[in-house]
Amino acid sequence: MAFLRLCVFLILFCLVAKGVAISAISAGYKVYSASQSGSAVQAVLEAISPSSKFGPDIPFLELHAGYVTPQIFHVHITDKSQPRWEVPQMLLPRNHIHSLLDSSEIEFSYTKHPFGFSISRSRRGEVLFNSSQPSSTMDSLVFKDQYIQISTSLPNYSSIYGFGESTRPAGFKLVPGNKYTLWAEDVGSVNPNINLYGSLPFYMDVRKDGDAHGVLLLNSNGMDVLYEHELLTYKVIGGVLDFYFFTGTSPLSVMEQLTWLTGRPAPMPYWSLGFHQCRYGYANITDVENVAATYKAKDIPLDVMWSDIDYMDSYKDFTFDPVNYPANHVKAFVEKLHAEGQKYVIIIDPGIKYEEGYSTYHHGIEKDIFIKDAHGNNYLGQVWPGPVHFPDFLHPNVDSFWTKEISDFHKIVPFDGLWIDMNEASNFCTGISCTLPMGSTCPNLEEQTTCCLICNNKNMTQWDDPPYKINSSNVERPLGNKTIAVSATHFGGILEYDAHNLYGFSEAISTNRALKHTLGKRPFVLSRSTFVGSGAYTAHWSGDNGATWNDLAYSIVSILNSGLVGIPMVGADICGFSGDTWEELCNRWIQLGAFYPFSRDHSEKNSRRQELYLWDSVTESAKKVLGLRYRLLPFLYTLAYDAHKTGAPMARPLFFHFNQDPLIYAIDSQFLLGKSILVSPVLTPNTTAISAYFPAGTWYNLFDYSQVINGDIGTYHRLAAPMDTINVHLHEGSILPLQDAALTSSAARKTPFTLIITFGLRKGNENAGYAQGHVFLDDGEDVTMDLKSGNATFIKFQANRNDGLYVVNSIVEEGSFALKKGWQLQRVIILGSTSLPRKLFINGEEAPSTVHLSKSSDVSIEINKLNLLIGQPFTLKCETSNTKA
Ligand code: NOJ
Repeated sequence: MAFLRLCVFLILFCLVAKGVAISAISAGYKVYSASQSGSAVQAVLEAISPSSKFGPDIPFLELHAGYVTPQIFHVHITDKSQPRWEVPQMLLPRNHIHSLLDSSEIEFSYTKHPFGFSISRSRRGEVLFNSSQPSSTMDSLVFKDQYIQISTSLPNYSSIYGFGESTRPAGFKLVPGNKYTLWAEDVGSVNPNINLYGSLPFYMDVRKDGDAHGVLLLNSNGMDVLYEHELLTYKVIGGVLDFYFFTGTSPLSVMEQLTWLTGRPAPMPYWSLGFHQCRYGYANITDVENVAATYKAKDIPLDVMWSDIDYMDSYKDFTFDPVNYPANHVKAFVEKLHAEGQKYVIIIDPGIKYEEGYSTYHHGIEKDIFIKDAHGNNYLGQVWPGPVHFPDFLHPNVDSFWTKEISDFHKIVPFDGLWIDMNEASNFCTGISCTLPMGSTCPNLEEQTTCCLICNNKNMTQWDDPPYKINSSNVERPLGNKTIAVSATHFGGILEYDAHNLYGFSEAISTNRALKHTLGKRPFVLSRSTFVGSGAYTAHWSGDNGATWNDLAYSIVSILNSGLVGIPMVGADICGFSGDTWEELCNRWIQLGAFYPFSRDHSEKNSRRQELYLWDSVTESAKKVLGLRYRLLPFLYTLAYDAHKTGAPMARPLFFHFNQDPLIYAIDSQFLLGKSILVSPVLTPNTTAISAYFPAGTWYNLFDYSQVINGDIGTYHRLAAPMDTINVHLHEGSILPLQDAALTSSAARKTPFTLIITFGLRKGNENAGYAQGHVFLDDGEDVTMDLKSGNATFIKFQANRNDGLYVVNSIVEEGSFALKKGWQLQRVIILGSTSLPRKLFINGEEAPSTVHLSKSSDVSIEINKLNLLIGQPFTLKCETSNTKA
């Protein structure tokens, strides 16, 4: 017996030693042939010993590996004998790959038997990704038609972020032991730890010393990603392995590299940075008018009023309810909004009602652009209007259809932006194919979300019922559950199975194009479902959260996660979408939400109303925090510009800019706007003081500059946070452009500019005497957000503090636009000065007596009435009581 046991042990040992994983799924691949040209590698891989679990192994694979840019490395593995589904180039163009470019940043190496590969930084040799160490816990590569598996080992000190979209009670930093399922579903974000509306197969890995890299698996199929201690495993149910490695090394450079590939974030109109008010359940247009009017009467800033599906005639896209939202009344309202410098955004859903006589339906039929079921009929689903067909946004004729519907609709009511909802796509029925019941009404308006179609779920195909079940909704929910059947097809026979996760992305692309065409201006689109690359076309919100303290806290993580995949314009429904909110929660929520990149109050039908004027304390907070937001608009707009040019998220985790401290990698109850504004909200009830982390340096309270915090590595500070207070601090070394507060962004744009300049107050900090910043200005709605347009201004600011002398330089890279507007800088506030101001020189000449120089607090100097044209370069020198002669 002992001998037998020894034999079994020896056989197993030999198998493992030969690198054959003992897994039942597959024994992996070996290199059959390989060639190298420069740093590009091409190889054929052969299955070692085929197994049948989850289907047969694909016998031969083809691998291409090479640089895309000196900082981006690409590894692509697919079936050698036939093409497989890949994310279409028309959605995410990447013709530039497989260049023969050579660089020395990355080392790609592989093992031959079994095959595995690793990606390392050439300098320091740090391994970033490594699939070549199969072990009892890590399988070799598995590649079947409907199941692909690959793992990488990770060092135990990696901090991993990404793999949205889900609501994450455990926080922004991923926790080992968790599984992330990527399958777009209409599941409210109020549900934690399950796959939600978008699929974002990207992660950022930040190592001990703060060096970051990113990994994108460009694959739109459903997948599970298992993050275990020191191991990450992808289990994907189709497509190819299309990996992009972004070497960073700073988090911002990872974002720059990622969005270079997936598309830079869309330029956002200036007005979209104002405050937005929405509700599902505004009974009629008079109700909406009253809301806008009350905001004004109560002096609360408001830029944008929204209409949810309430405005539609029987929930049909591109129609108005003739009774509650008569088109001419809505039009008059929108014209009034426009006259007051405000905007109007309106919702559309993808499902087009199947109804004789409904023009949009007929246009879709004429152009034959609807998704087809397995029998070749237009796939019938059910959403708010009842029976619907879904436009196929991969169809070559869809753009002309969609653009015409949108532009004709715009002729009726001149809306300013579009909200595309329910685009996972949501379906109230589950069916491989469905038909309308004869003789009964559908929908039943009492139970609108209950399926009223007759659906057939027999004859499941290999797509409807794949061999490996991803963990959708944590219960391995069938792929076609409450969405378009995955055996349905798009143009050219593309299976919904493959393209499902791209539905919202493709709709956003078409909608962005249609709006651009219709408005001739920069489009604003808000989409619920997203994929990597969506940020180039749309903003995003975190979906149906709840009016709870938890949801308030989770919203920060959701926003950071969206920024991490190149979707920087993001927010969460302020005061909570579902459930009844209440005064204290709504108060704390507007205090936080005023600093979301996208700031919108939105609530569910039948929940309590939550406009900001409904409670005195909320009104007071709203005025205070939105007052600051509106003053910060030039800064926020410059952040949106930076996002558009470099992919930098507007809201960022602290580790993006401060990495000296291991504590920082898990902080997600605070966040940064840009690199210098630290937002530290209250996230719990009955709280009047918080403990907040402050990275090294001096931080100035933006509501009261005299309140200063000197942060240090590893230190938390106790801050007062009474009900009317959120803590927002500005870091030393910054120059912020501001304007005055106003009730709309268009009014704020007419006010004079201010610069706030911050220096450190700590002795011995050698950088404390230097500050910098920049501002981008244009008309806020040009299709391009670009200096090349000739219609923009870009200015860099630099300031020094030296022996009590303060010097501020404005370096104008392009001034014409601001000069045309005659925009003026009136005020400069210098924070970090304990000395008394004595004399001011402007461009070498002593300032006229009209300029007002004062000591505005113990630590600040204020210069007023400067009257300087912002588009012209200038130098200010301020002598103080400490200036050396
Ligand atoms: C679902 C969206 O998530 C929500 O924001 C919207 O109010 C409803 N659909 C109704 O359109």
